[in-house]
This record gives sequence, C-alpha cells and structure tokens, in this order.
Amino acid sequence: MIPLPLRMEAEFGGVVVTCERYLPEHVPDLVLMEDLCFPMPWSEGLLRQEATVRDYAWNLVWLLDGKLKGYTFNWTVLDEMHLLNFAVHPEWQGRGFGGYVLDWMIARAAAADYAQISLEVRETNTPAIGLYRSRGFETVARRIGYYSDNGENALVMVNSIRKESADGRD
Ligand SMILES: CC(C)(COP(=O)(O)OP(=O)(O)OC[C@H]1O[C@@H](n2cnc3c(N)ncnc32)[C@H](O)[C@@H]1OP(=O)(O)O)[C@@H](O)C(=O)NCCC(=O)NCCS
Repeated sequence: MIPLPLRMEAEFGGVVVTCERYLPEHVPDLVLMEDLCFPMPWSEGLLRQEATVRDYAWNLVWLLDGKLKGYTFNWTVLDEMHLLNFAVHPEWQGRGFGGYVLDWMIARAAAADYAQISLEVRETNTPAIGLYRSRGFETVARRIGYYSDNGENALVMVNSIRKESADGRD
C-alpha cells in the first residue's frame, strides 16, 4: 500500500489551501469547531486521543490562508478506509470547500489502492448526504437509533473507489 500523503498545498478560490497532520497543538481549534459544527460534539479527551500518531489513522487538518478551517479523520483497516469525522468551519460551508477536500481525499485513497471509503451520517444531514452522493457514495445500510442525543438513525454510505477505477469512471 502506498503511504497516504500528510501534507499538500494548493489554491482554492483565491486562497492558499494546505493540509497537515492533525496534532495535539490543533486540539483547541477543533474543540471550538466541534461545538460550531455538530449537535453532539466530540469531547476534548476524544479529540486529544485522536491527535496521537498511529499507523492506521489518517487524520488531517485543513487550513485556508494559514487558518484552520476543516478536518478529516480516517481510520484504515487493510484496504478499507472509514471516515470518522469531517467538518468545514461554518463561515466556509456551502462554498465548495468540503467538496474540494473530499475529492482530494478520494483521489489520494484511490492512488494508494484503497478499495472503499465508508462512513456514517445522520439521515437528516441533507448537505452532507448531498455532498457524499455527488462524490459517488451510496447508502448500503441504516443504523436505527445510532445517535444517542435524539435517537436519530445513521445512514451507512460507501464509496467503492476501486470498482470506479476498474470501470474507468474516475
Ligand atoms: C458537510 C460539510 C463538511 C460539507 O462541506 P461544505 O464545504 O459545506 O460543502 P460544499 O460547499 O463543498 O458542498 C458540496 C455539495 O454538498 C451538497 N450540499 C451543500 N449544501 C447542501 C444543502 N443545503 N442541501 C443539499 N445538498 C447540499 C451539494 O451536493 C454540494 O454540491 P455542489 O458542489 O454541486 O453544490 C459541511 O457542511 C460541514 O462541516 N457540516 C457540519 C458538520 C457535518 O455535518 N459533517 C459531516 C458529518 S457526516
């Protein structure tokens, strides 16, 4: 398996976009963003745990003009990837940045020969589901009452990136 990249720098809508490995120094920014982005934010302890470097975790923060505006946490098992957490700062939501990040992530996972990316999403999270569908994710299951704050169901969505490569659709 080709190693997944931990840095990139590019241009997005007139600003410099960079990504880097998620580390303990980023935890305070993520505590704030979790509160802004999610009804059931991850605790600081969990965010700190996720900032430790482990072989199976591909956890990145995304910066626009040097300011942290997003993050993606993925865990890998053999040739499968699971997207655990994904957020864009509210001031940047709906401006194409999430799509840009997801496209980059899928392309890097495909280049590293991962077979699929899976995730869970609240079934009322229309923007996220719209984004995932537009990027080739399909609903494969529903987890009933998955979210403990309101008993909401989760959709399990999968993007079969290796199949797409084989079909020549990417
Ligand atoms: C989900 C999230 C990461 C998407 O990032 P974003 O930067 O807002 O997304 P984009 O602006 O790139 O939108 C991409 C696509 O989302 C979809 N979308 C966005 N807003 C939508 C809405 N209100 N209704 C339906 N689809 C919508 C569209 O398909 C859009 O595609 P387009 O490029 O054709 O317009 C971001 O909104 C976010 O952080 N939300 C809060 C946290 C969260 O829910 N994370 C996901 C957990 S599973």
